[in-house]
Amino acid sequence: MDVGTVAVLGAGTLGAALARGWVRAGLVRPGALHLTRRHTEDLAPLAVEGFSTGTDNVEAVRRADVVVVAVRPAQAPPLLASLRPTLDPTRHIVVSIAAGLTLDHLRDLVGPTIPVVRAMPNTAIETGDSMTCISVDESSRRALPVAEALFDAVGRTRVIDEELMLAATALCGCGIAFFLRTIRGAAQGGTQIGFSPDDALEMAAQTALGAARLALQEGAHPEREIDRVTTPEGCTIAGLNELEHQGFTSALIRAMLTSSRRAREMSDEAGGAPTGVSPGAVDFYAAKLARDERAV
Ligand SMILES: NC(=O)c1ccc[n+]([C@@H]2O[C@H](COP(=O)([O-])OP(=O)(O)OC[C@H]3O[C@@H](n4cnc5c(N)ncnc54)[C@H](OP(=O)(O)O)[C@@H]3O)[C@@H](O)[C@H]2O)c1
Repeated sequence: MDVGTVAVLGAGTLGAALARGWVRAGLVRPGALHLTRRHTEDLAPLAVEGFSTGTDNVEAVRRADVVVVAVRPAQAPPLLASLRPTLDPTRHIVVSIAAGLTLDHLRDLVGPTIPVVRAMPNTAIETGDSMTCISVDESSRRALPVAEALFDAVGRTRVIDEELMLAATALCGCGIAFFLRTIRGAAQGGTQIGFSPDDALEMAAQTALGAARLALQEGAHPEREIDRVTTPEGCTIAGLNELEHQGFTSALIRAMLTSSRRAREMSDEAGGAPTGVSPGAVDFYAAKLARDERAV
């Protein structure tokens, strides 16, 4: 799909990773990507890679079809407000990755006619393995194919109801840290049973990658894959049962609940409806958490 020219406003960690990912995937040429940030010296390496770079956000928007907002959440509202006179509903779509910035708030900032997309990627954009969740409001549905093409190029994409964005933050945004900690723990164990730390880390990470690929196969389920390596009285079931005696599954479930609860608190602290979720969504989410707690 031709996504046109793209402006990434805020070419920091995530913004630059997205730009590099789109080039790597062949979705956009570096010259068709306009990257901005305020500190020119930090743009120099990106200019060397062939990206169009600058500090002028309005100019970048004038040259783009897709406007990706990748600044920090508190920096996004003044930035978007300054762009409002330049945004053209016949040309532009706005894609925000700023955590906690709701579609209602984005809509308030850019006006009623510009298509807006809220996206929650994770740092695996870097390797083209992000799990990105995206939401649009009713009037922005025409922006979905372009948004899906952008995020499919750097991993997998799911379109979700905005009410679930905080849950997506916990499962995919925070989740990447949980899985990395699991890999680190496995590598520590591997070192204790005889491998060098470097070898153990590589072996643990590649084994985790293999598990993820098995789980993502069409029709696959983790438990069926586990049964294939679990022989009666064998070493896998011995280790698995030890994991469960130590509360492994329960700890992961509780980590998801705790992170999603904290994400909601942070959203509420940021002012609820204007920068967080709508009051209706807060109620929905509180009820969902209560149900999940009972299920655990
Ligand atoms: N990290 C994650 O796992 C994750 C996951 C999902 C979503 N997000 C969201 O992604 C966004 C970016 O996060 P990050 O970790 O990439 O932050 P970051 O590295 O701080 O990047 C933000 C960039 O924005 C630039 N910037 C600030 N104000 C600007 C302005 N007015 N015009 C142009 N550029 C401006 C900053 O550069 P200068 O100071 O040089 O201007 C900085 O490079 C955040 O909103 C975050 O919520 C992050």
